[in-house]
Amino acid sequence: MHTERLEVVEGEEGERAIARAAELLRAGRLVAFPTETVYGLGALATDVRAVQAIFAAKERPAHNPLIVHVPDVRAARLQVARWPEQAEALARAFWPGPLTLVLPRAASIPREVTAGLDAVGVRAPAHPVARRLLERVDGPVAAPSANRYTRISPTTAVHVAKGLDGRIDAILDGGATPVGIESTVLDLSGAKPRLLRPGAVGREEIEAVIGPVEVLDEAQAQTAQPSPGLARRHYAPSGKVQIFSGDLPSLPKGARVGVIALRQRPAGAQVERWLQLPADAAAYARQLYGALHALEDAGVTDVLLEAVPEDDAWAGVRDRLARAAG
Ligand code: TXA
Ligand code: MG
Repeated sequence: MHTERLEVVEGEEGERAIARAAELLRAGRLVAFPTETVYGLGALATDVRAVQAIFAAKERPAHNPLIVHVPDVRAARLQVARWPEQAEALARAFWPGPLTLVLPRAASIPREVTAGLDAVGVRAPAHPVARRLLERVDGPVAAPSANRYTRISPTTAVHVAKGLDGRIDAILDGGATPVGIESTVLDLSGAKPRLLRPGAVGREEIEAVIGPVEVLDEAQAQTAQPSPGLARRHYAPSGKVQIFSGDLPSLPKGARVGVIALRQRPAGAQVERWLQLPADAAAYARQLYGALHALEDAGVTDVLLEAVPEDDAWAGVRDRLARAAG
């Protein structure tokens, strides 16, 4: 399959690229597009065959549910059977933005989208290109991250092409994504709100709006219950990955080592690549997947990830580092 490149430049040509992407989606095709978090691999959520094609292109197991993207609250309410007060309050506070709300699904959402679950994740992304695209499609767009299953999520069109070129119909290139890690996923379908995946919207920010939120503990996260896509070993570059703090662990002779750290490279460090990321959590998140892709592209055999701070601002990053090392 030939994968069309659609570049969102300024002005009319950019608008034509978005219109073409919308036309492909409406015709049941697969289009990768930028959101503020990472690139998504989109298909019309109501088109069962298109949704199945997402799983095939990503080589993703069918038990892993997809997030449905919408332009606004009005469209979100059409995808769910119930829109509680808490959803309304959170949408008002954080949408459009990197927060996915899991709610009982409407009958119009095929079971293929939710991997058989009775709840669906919905999100209104903030990226201007995603917003223009969703308005033009005028229908719900199911989109997982636009990477092969268990591989590093894409924050640029080049990352998307690395994993999916020739397997999807088009890539809408809107530049590098500003948040850099996937959305926070909050389950509102049960008795108590539960945080399924940490992301740019922090637990404390959510609790400031709706009160206490349960968090999956490590054991639950590892067994991937109740959110199947949260299995460990995810977002992972090829090669062995480990987290360290303090001194660099020693590695066997001949290892080609790549490091991602908050610290500067110490003099004399026996490593092939040392990528220093910013000490600010949001800036670090923006660059993390690009750094992992760069180490993978360099062909290192071992990736060492320096541990990051323990506070809420870093929860999303900590989760992604743990999964990369999983
Ligand atoms: O930022 C993001 O969320 C990106 C962009 C493209 O929107 N999307 C994304 O999708 O990260 P994906 O498929 O890579 O991860 C979505 C995860 C699933 O793996 C699953 O853990 C959870 O969200 N999820 C989605 N629908 C769910 C549902 N109905 N019940 C429980 N968890 C769900
Ligand atoms: Mg993903």
